[in-house]
Formats: sequence, structure tokens, C-alpha cells
Amino acid sequence: MADFSSLGLSDWLVQQCKQLGINKPTAVQENCMPAILQGRDCLGCAKTGSGKTAAFVLPVLQKLSEEPYGIFCLVLTPTRELAYQIAEQFRVLGKPLGLRECIIVGGMDMVSQAVELSNQPHVVVATPGRLADHIRSSNTFSMSKIQFLILDEADRLLEQGCTDFTKDLEVIMGILPAKRQTLLFSATLTDTLQELKSIAMNEPFFWESTSETRTVEELDQRYILTPEKVKDAYMVHLIQTLTDQHDDWSIIIFTNTCKNCQILTMMLREFNFPVISLHSMMKQKQRFANLAKFKASVYKILIATDVAARGLDIPTVQVVINHNTPGLPKIYIHRVGRTARAGRNGVSITLVTQYDIHLVHVIEQQTKTKLKEYPVEEKAVLKILTQVNMARRQCEILPCTQTTLCKTLLFLIFESDNYERI
Ligand SMILES: Nc1ncnc2c1ncn2[C@@H]1O[C@H](COP(=O)(O)OP(=O)(O)OP(=O)(O)O)[C@@H](O)[C@H]1O
Ligand SMILES: [Mg+2]
Repeated sequence: MADFSSLGLSDWLVQQCKQLGINKPTAVQENCMPAILQGRDCLGCAKTGSGKTAAFVLPVLQKLSEEPYGIFCLVLTPTRELAYQIAEQFRVLGKPLGLRECIIVGGMDMVSQAVELSNQPHVVVATPGRLADHIRSSNTFSMSKIQFLILDEADRLLEQGCTDFTKDLEVIMGILPAKRQTLLFSATLTDTLQELKSIAMNEPFFWESTSETRTVEELDQRYILTPEKVKDAYMVHLIQTLTDQHDDWSIIIFTNTCKNCQILTMMLREFNFPVISLHSMMKQKQRFANLAKFKASVYKILIATDVAARGLDIPTVQVVINHNTPGLPKIYIHRVGRTARAGRNGVSITLVTQYDIHLVHVIEQQTKTKLKEYPVEEKAVLKILTQVNMARRQCEILPCTQTTLCKTLLFLIFESDNYERI
């Protein structure tokens, strides 16, 4: 197996990697880094937790050290939390360079971002919406000389879904030079390959891991079949069992909407579970604060919408619970990929109701993995059923009964049209 030096990395970068416990390149790094260092465009498709971030950060830092200037590299990513995480990798690995990076995401102060951009940072990590806003509203910075454009979670950036980035991407592409290196990474690139190839125009190097399955072997994938009405009781029982057995485990519970996320959080608090939430209707500062508390294990359970499904790297996460069965296999792949990362073990448990069985079949077909049943003691679930359902109902009507200002405001926010967002 190759080491980082033989892939063309300088000694100072190899040392940086060592300090972080990154000693041997992963397959995506071994295969993509030489092509990137040779100056080629690159499409890298590798499983969740396989080190795609370092596969682009390291070659960019190497090239930047040879000819440092700003703005040298632009990284686009679909979520704000992920932008911070990527910037952090640049900051840590690029420390000896005195790297200046800047994060441009929505929900944060636009004026200070504009000042940072005008100071010509080496690397800009951005979500498309806010960067496009800066481009539309000011001319105090130029990206006409960037060497690298990187799209992390590239398929998500290009897909037209509930958050559609295409208009913002057009604005951004409009100010980038045609002569540049374009690097596209995701665990699920293949559906969008044609669109991606048109962005990375000069004969991109394409690498995809050859494995039969699309999820990692270290992941134990389970399901619990439950009638819709008993689902919450199953979840409460499951969390109780997991937390009783493993008090050091962190758990992410994914749910489909902000409203559900909020209600489940309130409901699980009624049962004294250490839960905190993350969804797109929260203020950005709160989102960052909650994620930080979860990462630091102050709270062991994070209830999140798909805003947390991609890219987040939190080593303590041992279990992912899908409170709803994802409608698309690729959402499933990213969600369960929040555990069992970098060779560690992990468990995913999907709650499947009578209406979701066909979705599980599609997931199994696409991931080429069979989900196994997770054994549950039904009697124990039935014992808590009434209590759980009452707790849920109470949380749904909470603002009427408990009129603390904060909860009433939440209710008003969630009654708006954005109620069903992720
Ligand atoms: N060569 C390596 N050896 C050991 N650990 C590594 C190596 N490269 C990266 N890592 C670590 O592996 C973890 C996962 O990496 P990363 O977040 O880049 O995965 P990813 O492929 O981008 O996953 P996702 O598809 O979920 O975004 C990180 O904590 C990272 O520090
Ligand atoms: Mg990633």
C-alpha cells in the first residue's frame, strides 16, 4: 500500500497528517490525490467516512504552498455545519502555511463576511446561497484567479430538490475562471454523473470504490417493523435500552420535518433523555451551539432532519436511528453513514411502518445489503405505549397548555408555511 510521500505529498504535509493520526492513505486518497496533484479534474465517489475531505484538502494545500495567493480555492457544500467542518480540516492541516480560510454561509453576519472576503483569504468554504448573495451585492472581491473549485456532496448541490442550488451555482460559476481544476466528491455521485461531467470539463479523472455494497461493512444495518401508531413507543423503548446498555454511546435520530424534530425533542425530554435538536428552522447560532454540545457529548442524543444527513464527522456516534424510513436510498446511505466511519463499527436502526415496506426494498436493492431485524421485546413496548402517546399529544398541543414565551414563539414559527421543511 502506498504512503502519503509516494503519492507526491511534501514532508510537511505528511507530518501534519501524522499528527492527526492519519498515517496511511485510504483508497479514495490513494487513487484521487496523484491525479489532482497532476492538475487533472477529479470525480471521486467513495463510501461515507472514507476520507474524501482529506483527499481534496491535502493536494490543495500542497499546491497552495508552491504558489500561495488568495483567493486560491473555493469549496462549495450544501450545509452550513459541513462548511465549518471542512474549513476546520483546512485550518488544522494548513497551519504551518499560515493558511487564511474564510467561511461564507447563511444565517451569519453578512458584513463581516464581506470584509473577510475582501481580505483575500487563501480558501473560501461556502454554501451556494450566501456566496451568490455576496456576488450579487458587492464587487470587493474577485474569484477570477482561483485554481480550485471543489464541490463536496456534489450530487446534492446539483440535484433539484427542496433546496435548489442551481440558480446560485449559475451566479457563482459566472465569476470563476474557465481555466481551473474542478474536484467533485460524494458517496453517491453516480446518479448525477452526466451533469457532474459537464462541470468538470477537461477529461476528469473518475474514481469510484469497487465494492459490491454501497454502505460500509462495519455498519450493522437493522430494521424494526412497527405499526405507525406504536412507532414512538418503539423508539422510546429502543433509546431506553441502548442508553441503559451503553452509557457512552452517542445517537443520532433522523426525522423527516422540522416540526417532527421539535416534537420528538420535547417528547424525549419528557422521558429525561439527554436530547438536543438540529434543523433548518432554528437560528444558525443555536444550530452551531447544539451541534457543538452534541459533539462534546454534553448531550448524547441528537434529533435532526436531513440537514445533518451528509458529511458530518462525529466519531462518538455509535447508532443512527431512522425515525422515518427515508424515501430515497441515497438519503438512507448518507444518514446511516454518520456512524461506522473511518473503519469503526456502528449500528443503524430504521423504524419501518406498514406504509414503508416498499421503501426498504428499494433501499436494499440500491445498497445491495439486506437489513436484518432488530429484536425488540414487544411486551415492554406495549407497557409504555399509552404513556408515550400521551406525551406526544401533550407536546403537540404544548403551547396551549404551557405558555412560556419561548414555546409559544416556536409554535408560531412552526405553524408557518415552513413547518414541513427539513
Ligand atoms: N488516511 C486516513 N486514515 C485514518 N483516518 C482518516 C484518514 N483520512 C481521513 N481520516 C478520518 O476519517 C474520518 C472521515 O473522513 P471524512 O469526513 O473525510 O469522510 P468522507 O469520505 O468525506 O465521508 P462522508 O461521505 O460522510 O462525507 C475523519 O475523521 C478523518 O479525519
Ligand atoms: Mg465528506
